[in-house]
This record gives sequence, C-alpha cells and structure tokens, in this order.
Amino acid sequence: MSIHYHDSTRLLTLRTASSSYQLQIDELGFLRHLYYGRDTGTADLRYLHRFYDLGFSGNHYEHRMERAPSPDTIPQEYASSGAGDYRVPAVVAVGPSGHRGTDWRYVSHEIRPGKYTLAGLPTSFDNGGECETLTLTLRDDASGLTLLLHYGVFAALDIITRAAELRNDGDTPVTLEKAASVCLDLPFGEWDLMHFHGRHCFERQPERLPLPHGVVSVGSERGMSSHQHNPFVILCGRETTEDAGDCYGLMLVYSGSFRCDAERSQTGSVRAVLGVSPLDFSWTLQPGETFTAPEALLAFAEGFTQLSHRFHRFLRRNICRGKFALSRRPVLVNSWEAAYFDLDADRLVSLAKEAKDVGAELFVLDDGWFRGRTDDNAGLGDWFENREKLPRGLGDLVERITALGVQFGIWIEPEMVNENSDLYRAHPDWALAVPGRAPIMARNQLVLDMSRADVRDYLFNVFSALLREHDISYVKWDMNRSLSDVYSHALPAARQGEVLHRYVLGVYDLLERLTSAFPDVLFEGCAGGGGRFDAGILCYCPQIWLSDDTDPIERLKIQRGTSFGYPMSAMGAHVSASPNHQTGRTTPMETRAVVAMAGAFGYELDLTKLPQAEKDAIRAQIARFRADEDTTLCGLYYRLTDERNTWFTAWQTVSEDQKRSIVSLVVQNVEPYKSAPHLRLKGLDPDAVYEIEEEHIAASGAALMHAGYTFPKMLGDYPAAQLHLKKKEGESA
Ligand code: GLA
Repeated sequence: MSIHYHDSTRLLTLRTASSSYQLQIDELGFLRHLYYGRDTGTADLRYLHRFYDLGFSGNHYEHRMERAPSPDTIPQEYASSGAGDYRVPAVVAVGPSGHRGTDWRYVSHEIRPGKYTLAGLPTSFDNGGECETLTLTLRDDASGLTLLLHYGVFAALDIITRAAELRNDGDTPVTLEKAASVCLDLPFGEWDLMHFHGRHCFERQPERLPLPHGVVSVGSERGMSSHQHNPFVILCGRETTEDAGDCYGLMLVYSGSFRCDAERSQTGSVRAVLGVSPLDFSWTLQPGETFTAPEALLAFAEGFTQLSHRFHRFLRRNICRGKFALSRRPVLVNSWEAAYFDLDADRLVSLAKEAKDVGAELFVLDDGWFRGRTDDNAGLGDWFENREKLPRGLGDLVERITALGVQFGIWIEPEMVNENSDLYRAHPDWALAVPGRAPIMARNQLVLDMSRADVRDYLFNVFSALLREHDISYVKWDMNRSLSDVYSHALPAARQGEVLHRYVLGVYDLLERLTSAFPDVLFEGCAGGGGRFDAGILCYCPQIWLSDDTDPIERLKIQRGTSFGYPMSAMGAHVSASPNHQTGRTTPMETRAVVAMAGAFGYELDLTKLPQAEKDAIRAQIARFRADEDTTLCGLYYRLTDERNTWFTAWQTVSEDQKRSIVSLVVQNVEPYKSAPHLRLKGLDPDAVYEIEEEHIAASGAALMHAGYTFPKMLGDYPAAQLHLKKKEGESA
C-alpha cells in the first residue's frame, strides 16, 4: 500500500521507497498540500503549517472572522486564478457568465491498484503491479467544472506521476485559458531553479539560478518542446550537489509548447507550475466535454545523481515502450553527413557494404531519397521514391542493401510539406497558414495541420504502405521547424486556440498508429537534432537524435546536460567526420568514439573514404561498444565533472550489480605542466576489489572512490581515455 487515507483527519499520504507526499482535505473541502520530501511515514504534518494574517489577506467566506488561513498562502495542489490566491495559477477558466476563476471543493476520492491512462496522450505505464492510483474529484459550482486530479505512485521507483482532467458538468460552455499539469508548492526553504536551455546544435545546457521574488518562467511557444528549453526542471536547495541535498525533478510527458513558472512569493514560499503553455491557448468545453492535461513526472531525491538515476530508470522501464525499450538496438551507419542530398543507388550500396564490413547492423538512408528532393527546398510531402536518384526504385535499393546482411532504415519528416510538392499543390489547406497572410517559412517548408484527421489518415496510409512494401527495420522521424501561423482551416474561429495542442495530439495519434501497426520497426525521434527531446516522444521512440552538432567536444556538454533527466540509452550519438562539419574542429577517432559510445551508438561519415586503419579501428570500436553497452547504457550513470572544469569532462557508469564499471574522460583544453587528471570514482562497492583492465592495477572500491584514480598525462588535441573496471570475485578489501 503506497497511498494512505486517514478518515478522521482526511489526510492522504502517498509514499514511495524514500519519499512521502501529503495532502489534506480541510474542513471546507479545500485541498491543501502539506508536504513532499524525504520519507516521513504517514505522520500527520498539519502541525507544520501556521498561518498568519498578512494584513488583509483574503480568506474563505466560511471562515468569516478567522483571517489567518488564506488561499493566498495555503500550499495548494491545483491553484486557480481569481479565487484569492495571487500566486501563479495552474488553471484559468472562464465560466458561463464570463467570470474567471474556480473555487475547487472536494467531492470524493478513489484509491485503486494500477495506473490511470489519459485519453489521447502518452503516459507512463505500470510494468506489473508497481503502481497505485489516487484520483481526487473536486468541483467548482459557479462554472460547473469538475476537476479530476490523478496521482500515480510508483513506490519502488520513487516516482509520483500527476495529471489533471477538467470536465464541464454544467449546461453552458466553459473556456480554459490555462490548464497546467502540476502545481507543486514548497512552503519552506530557499530554492534554486535548474533548467536546461539551448539552441539548435547546443541543446539542454544546465543553468541554475536562485529563485528571486517574482516569477521565473521558461518554456517553449514553438509548438515543439524545443532546442531552446526543455520540459524538465529541477528545484534544489542552495547547497544541493551531485551527491547530497534536496532536489525535486518535474518532467512533462509532452512534446509541444510548454511553460514552467517558478515563483517565490511574498512569504518566501515557492511554487512551480508546469504544463501546456497558456500562450495562444484556449479550449472551450461544451457540456459533458473533458480537457486532459498531459502527465507530469515528479521525483524527490538527495543529490542530482540520485535524481537522474530515478528518472533514467523510470523513463527506460515505464515510459519507453515496445520491443526496443530495454533491448539492444542495432549499431547504425547513417547517410546524412556521409552524402547529404548527393545520393545514388550505387553510392549508397557501397556505403552499406562498408557498414557491414565494420560490423554495423543497420544502414539508414537519410533525407533526399524521395520525389523532388534535390535539396531542402522541395519535395517534403511526396513520400515516393526519387527515380532520378534511384532509377530502379527504392525496393531495388532495399533489396541490394538487405542482401548484404544489414538492415535498412529510412528518414521521414511526416509533419512537413514544401510548397514545391504535389501534396501541397493538391491540398494547400492542409498546411498551417493564416488566411490573408503570407506564412513564415523555415527551411523553406510549411507545417502540416496535424490536428486534422484527414491529414493524419493520409500520412498513415502513405507511411504504412512504405513500411509494408519494403523491408524497413528503422524509421528516423524528423521535424525540422517551429510552428508559426497556427491556423487550422478545419476549425471555426472560436476554436483556433486549440490548434497548438491539437497538433501535438495529432502527432501522438499518428505515432501511436504507426508504432502499433509496425511493432518490429525501431522509431528514432528527431527534430533538427534535439528539438523535441522529451518524455512524450520517448513513449514512441526509445531513442532520439540528440543534436545536429556531432562534434564530440560540443556533445560532451549536450550529453552531460541531457543526462540530468534522460537516460543515455535515449540519446542517439554518432561518430562523424573530422574536421567536424558543424564546428570545423579536428578530433581523434578514438575521442569521437568514446563520446558516441555513451549513447545509442552509430556512425555518420563516408566510410568509403576512410583509410583501412580507421576502418579497422571502427570495427574494434563496434565490438567494444557491444561488450560494454549493458554497463554504459543500462548501468547507473555518474557525472564526474561539472561545467566549471574546463580542462576535461569525465563520466562513469556502473552496472546495477556493481560488478563492472566504465570510466570515460575527454580532455577539452590541454593544460601543460599541470598534474595529470585525477578523479574520484563513484558508485562502486567499497569493500570489493576492482581490476582496472587497461592498467592491470587492482584497488578497492573504497580507495577508488575516496582516494581516487590518477590518469596518465594526456597531451595533444582532445585525447580521450577509458577505463574498464571489473570486480574481482572472491576478493574483498
Ligand atoms: C535534420 C536532422 C539531421 C538530418 C537532416 C536532414 O537536421 O537532425 O540529422 O536528418 O535534418 O535534412
């Protein structure tokens, strides 16, 4: 039992292995948040909250002369605007008379085994008796809205999920102008916000700032979770480090525009609200209709490392679905940086032959293979083979490549269309565009209106025919521009505020249909690299192309930042050419491999042009990746350096049974006459003896973790080192 209800106090306590979360239904039926943090059992924590009149604070009507408990200071679970709480609201609703705000009062609650699901949205799932659900029903009489708050408690995994549904049980329409997924109040303490900003080719860079009074807001208005911000944030104590200190992770299972507001209020309390972005959003609920806000995942941990471990484990086991979620995935060779648009069948077959020869298992034909696609100005939408480039057809190419003994994969960008395409000429109204205004172009392409069922049906038919007719084992699903001119020709004026969210629901619908119809195909997500790297996409694609920047030195920062929330197995990572195509930087092949091996591994360079020695090195790297991947991708991940270390970056993975560990280090700036790089390792069994294979040195886990390890001096351009540690059975320190 992880959810406890106490009848006389009306306290609800959600317990995971190391955290507890407590709510109270007060005497007015008002829902109060009491606590989330380190496990306190089912202790009654009402004593924590003392309220004072802050000088004419608003208070509930029923309280009359009692001025102390105010909706403006009571920690809440799903705060509304317009009802005496002046902090950032989770919901803004416009009632039948045009009034704003809701006053939620308790109706009932239900505790049941298993995990709730949400109509039309991807959610985490119960992997077998590991989740309990609490659903609270609240009502606002003036608007007729019913609020369902769902909590999924994954006790052993230390994750609590939240979701909200708003149902119009009245007899007149109600409009939502904001409907977030989670509102988390931290009544006491000083908190920093850590969020992950970036840009194309430089995604998810951690930034930590002490929360000032007022609201700090991060989010995306781009229709995609975006390169610029990520729907994952951390609230942490001022002193929190990798290894100690309170921290909370909040992650949205959503791939569209989102907003996270973190507010430090007048009293010093902190509130974080995370959900669908309210900008350009409005949703009218007719009587009987429900709006479902996406799911949010919450974890409390002590130290960032523990927080990352919780999210990594949960995303791998309870978000990623299908046969590839936990299994080994093929090592691939991708044609993009090898050939770009300059494709012809013989060239591709030669590349695939080399791929086979070095031991790769999958050859991916990237952009450029379809009708009219000579460069990135035309062709999107016409998902039929390009006969100029492939005179004997796609089928012939697939057969020639699979006959070599490598699987075949293909690139698609379903959500987009070029004006110069037969699809656009036939259906100009399928693209998002505002009537009477020339649309903003990006990469010379327009966005298809994924809110439309006819568009999705068309795409489903085209891509299912492609996957049925050819022996295709892998699909790279790209999405290369932000949304603008968000207007759907299929919806009336009053409902245009729904389009941004309906677009995302449409993407999920198509992903759901295609991934269910082709369960043996591995889908990799992509959006101009890492522009849609989120838990929503991970529900369908167990790996996502991390970034269009393949320079290993840049990737160090991107992988490190991404690792705070997301597992390494989710990060598509390839060895590319040197000098690198994005930065012009020259790096050793070994360094490129050490960095890429930390993720879902592959190559993206013209293997036909490499000297034999480099091809031999690649063959050995693929074998090494295979030998190591159970530790590197499934083990516990430790960041060993922080961004203040400009000399080198290091990380470590340890198998869950602590028998194997791999340490990787890359020197970014050689600093001569400094001592050699030294590190304290983490996560080892202190009492065990480990052999370091590269050095034939044996040392105890305690020695390696407390005294550390000194690497040999590393000079030159961007050298890398890797250590393989193996526990010596039968020996103890
Ligand atoms: C995006 C992707 C790249 C490649 C190109 C093709 O930028 O991130 O990997 O597929 O599109 O146009």
